[in-house]
Parts: sequence; structure tokens; C-alpha cells
Amino acid sequence: METVNPGGEDGLPESAYQLARERLECQRHHWLITGVAGFIGSHLLEALLELGQQVTGMDNFLTGHGHNLEQVRDHVGASAWQRFRFLQADIRDAAACRNACADVDFVLHQAALGSVQRSIEQPQLCNDINVGGFLQVLTAAREARVRRVVYAASSATYGDHPGLPKVEHAIGHPLSPYAVSKYVNELYADVCARCYGQEAIGLRYFNVYGPRQDPAGAYAAVIPQWIAAMLACRPVFINGDGETSRDFCYVGNVVQANLLAALTQRADAVNQVYNVAVSARTSLNALHGLLAELLAERRPDLPRLAPQYLPFRPGDVRHSHADIGKAASLLGYVPTHDLRRGLRLALRWYLRQ
Ligand SMILES: NC(=O)c1ccc[n+]([C@@H]2O[C@H](COP(=O)([O-])OP(=O)(O)OC[C@H]3O[C@@H](n4cnc5c(N)ncnc54)[C@H](O)[C@@H]3O)[C@@H](O)[C@H]2O)c1
Repeated sequence: METVNPGGEDGLPESAYQLARERLECQRHHWLITGVAGFIGSHLLEALLELGQQVTGMDNFLTGHGHNLEQVRDHVGASAWQRFRFLQADIRDAAACRNACADVDFVLHQAALGSVQRSIEQPQLCNDINVGGFLQVLTAAREARVRRVVYAASSATYGDHPGLPKVEHAIGHPLSPYAVSKYVNELYADVCARCYGQEAIGLRYFNVYGPRQDPAGAYAAVIPQWIAAMLACRPVFINGDGETSRDFCYVGNVVQANLLAALTQRADAVNQVYNVAVSARTSLNALHGLLAELLAERRPDLPRLAPQYLPFRPGDVRHSHADIGKAASLLGYVPTHDLRRGLRLALRWYLRQ
């Protein structure tokens, strides 16, 4: 697997990510992040501002929060924050998308209704935002001559395909309206490349976690939900027998993939979709054990409660495990955080909140 580029000044091989970051430090671009007040969007904002970039962010606060932006501001400082322009707006609004895309070089499109369960309850809303809004962003980006759109696709697109690990070209039937919407994004990106020569890259994220992921509400993701339960001395609920598995991906890896996708100069790397994960498969039972172990290191006072098992949920994929060879060979993507390292960072943040 071709994962590093030679040529670091210190004689050590220099990673594609390191080179991309150095390029950005030397040259300022203008980025649009949709869904900037959300979990992943706020991390992209933080990374770009730290690299001296100019950023426009767009969010309607449907699931995002002002406090995510405030944390980024506190982290990067007042001077970097001046390079950020925030638009409270909806991606379904064509005029707002046109305004947001003005003079932008790269779009990192994250805004979406991100929950499988919510999409089953509200398929129309899911379609309006995830498909209609996506097309508005893509159209506005094309009209504004944005260089490239990198968009959040999803591992949900693998649906019922039994193959493991998941390779980009082998997908099954979608198991939820959310999965349909994310697959339609890929189809639109592909057709816009063919019809208009527009550049886009889809990143199929696999279960992302890390600081700022919302632990509250009925649609919270498993890691923040479980950490919140453990800290409140409540038992964790597992849907199914706990042998359902996921490829949990720390948000820092996702930031890396976005920057590499935006900046790649390889023609064969553009207008593609890529798995973004660690390529490690962890069962929910194993995740529970690891979280309990790491939490006990910091909070030995907390009780260690056994998980409680509930019925399987409709729409949930049984196993998810990514082959990341395509992102490694075409983008130079090398995940920097495995599950243990990422969970330690996430836990540290949740304990501080
Ligand atoms: N977190 C994961 O594990 C995961 C996995 C696969 C794909 N994704 C995708 O990654 C992207 C980001 O996910 P996240 O986990 O940060 O979710 P999030 O809910 O924290 O962020 C989504 C953001 O989009 C905003 N938004 C929603 N609808 C909008 C609209 N109509 N107009 C403007 N803003 C709108 C929300 O307010 C929120 O700030 C989503 O596209 C999601 O589908 C996430």
C-alpha cells in the first residue's frame, strides 16, 4: 500500500497530509463549509483556521450548535477567528447557497440530516435536505466556478451488501431513506462531472466520533450517548446482541481525508468516492468494554454497569468494516488515530464538559 511520500526535510518520509498542510500554510484559499456548526463541520473549521485559511460557514442550527462555533473561536483565538464568516442559512435556499459560494475555492459539504433512524421517521425532510439541499450546493458551486466540492457521503450506501471489508465499487440495496439520500448524492456528483465537468469527491464516512459530537437527543450516535450514560451512572443500551460491528473513525482522520481530497492534484483521484475509516472492525460489546476500561482510568469512582440489550433496530447494517486502500493509494490517506487513541481524546473532552 502506497501510504507515504518521501522527501521530508528531516530525512524522514513525509506524509501526504503533512505536505498538504504545508501547502496550505504557504497559500490562503477560501473555503465554504456547510454544516459548520455541527460535529464534523466544526472540526474542519478549526483545522482550516489553524492553517491560516479563510472560511465561510453555513448552518441553520437544525442539529448544530452555537457552542460548537464558540469552542472553535476559543481554541483558535481572536485573530484567526477574523478569517471566518458565518451565514445562518439553509442549504435548501438557492440564493443563500449562491451567496455562500461567492469567491470560494473549495466547498466541504457536511450539512445533512445525519441520522438513519430520523430518516425512517421523516423521509421527506431527509430527502429535502440531503438530496434537494445537496443539489442546491452543487449548483451554486458550479455557477460560482468553485474549484472542487468535497462532500460527506456515507458507509450507509453499502446497505445490504454482504461483502467485508467494504470496497467502494460493491454496494447493495439501501436500508434507509438516509442511505438512499447519500447514494443519490454520489449519483448527482457523478452526473455533474459528466454533464458540466464539475469536480467533486465523495467521502464515505464510517461511524465518526470525537469531541463535540452531540450526546443528547433520541438520535445521538452510540459513542457520545454511551459516554453520557456512563458518566451519569446509567446503564448503556445495546440494540441487538452486541455483536453488530462498526469501523469507528476518529474525527481527526475525517479532517485529514477532506483536506487531501480538496487538494489532490492527481486527475485520477478526482470525481471518485472513498471510504474514510480506520479499517478496523469493533463489535458493540468490545466498544463497551474498551470505553469502560478507559473511563475507569480517569474516573475509578464510577460504577461499572453491565450493558442492557434491546431488540435490533430496523435500518441498521449488521457489520461495517472499510477497505481504505483506495484512499491510501490515490489520496495518501493514512489514519492517525486508532480507536483507543481516539476514544481517549473524546473521553477527555466529554469529562471536561
Ligand atoms: N457522524 C458520522 O458518523 C457520519 C457518518 C457518515 C456520514 N456523516 C455525514 O457527515 C456530515 C456531518 O455529520 P455530523 O456528524 O457532523 O452531523 P451534525 O448533525 O453534527 O452536523 C450536520 C450540520 O448540518 C446542519 N444542517 C442540517 N440541515 C441543514 C440545512 N438544511 N441547512 C444548513 N445546515 C444544515 C446542522 O445544523 C448541523 O450543524 C453529514 O452529512 C452526515 O450525513 C456523518
